[in-house]
Amino acid sequence: MSGPTLELSQVSKVYLSGAARVVAVNHASAAFHAATVTAIMGPSGSGKTTLLSMLGLILRPSDGRVHLLGRDVTACDERSLPGLRREHIGFIFQSFNLFAALTALENVLVPLQLKKIAKAEAPARARQALERVGLAARTDFHPRDLSGGEKQRVSIARAVAAEAPVILADEPTANLDSRTGRQIIDLLAELARDQGRTVVVVSHDLRLQDHVDRILWMEDGVLQEGKHVPMTEPGVSP
Ligand SMILES: Nc1ncnc2c1ncn2[C@@H]1O[C@H](COP(=O)(O)OP(=O)(O)OP(=O)(O)O)[C@@H](O)[C@H]1O
Ligand SMILES: [Mg+2]
Repeated sequence: MSGPTLELSQVSKVYLSGAARVVAVNHASAAFHAATVTAIMGPSGSGKTTLLSMLGLILRPSDGRVHLLGRDVTACDERSLPGLRREHIGFIFQSFNLFAALTALENVLVPLQLKKIAKAEAPARARQALERVGLAARTDFHPRDLSGGEKQRVSIARAVAAEAPVILADEPTANLDSRTGRQIIDLLAELARDQGRTVVVVSHDLRLQDHVDRILWMEDGVLQEGKHVPMTEPGVSP
């Protein structure tokens, strides 16, 4: 597949809450390709999570089109979206989103069960993914017994095991110290470069910009290509 994995064409999102009307994303266009890590950066409230949620088929745009692997998903029936998400998209959140009662291995197994991967095959695949993120010795640990970086690696392993061609991460390093955060970014970059996945990372963290292939800058809902952000950018904490 040579075209973009994901493509936004003039995508907008308007929130209506009470009398207020917030244009969170304003006519954003961008294409995201395989084997590429793209960072979306910008101040708080600029629309980054909203944009990522539309890329991840969690939120429907108010206007514009989203294409996933060449297919116009904005035209898709609501009922087909969960299946498309499960098949193609791995989401990684700032807050890890792991099931507290499940071990690392069981957490990684959840999407495999949802995808109906054969019972005989799933545990090996989950173990392999945990190995891939350096957690072979932690498979039977519960989230409460894992460090923040380890928890984040479990959520990455979940996307790896599910073989999601698209990995979307919203502030994946925000709860981590800088060294651990760097390891997580390196891991995401490896998944893009070695396995050809399409990775999009939303972050405030300006240190990230040296470790990604491309940066998009978001401000007041407007998405811009390729801006190198000075460390003193107002409204952004370094
Ligand atoms: N469900 C909602 N209803 C109404 N307004 C919303 C809703 N979600 C977000 N907003 C508004 O849309 C704008 C963009 O929010 P969004 O969460 O996308 O920003 P962000 O760039 O991810 O911010 P942060 O860096 O703080 O996470 C904000 O002004 C926010 O208040
Ligand atoms: Mg956000």
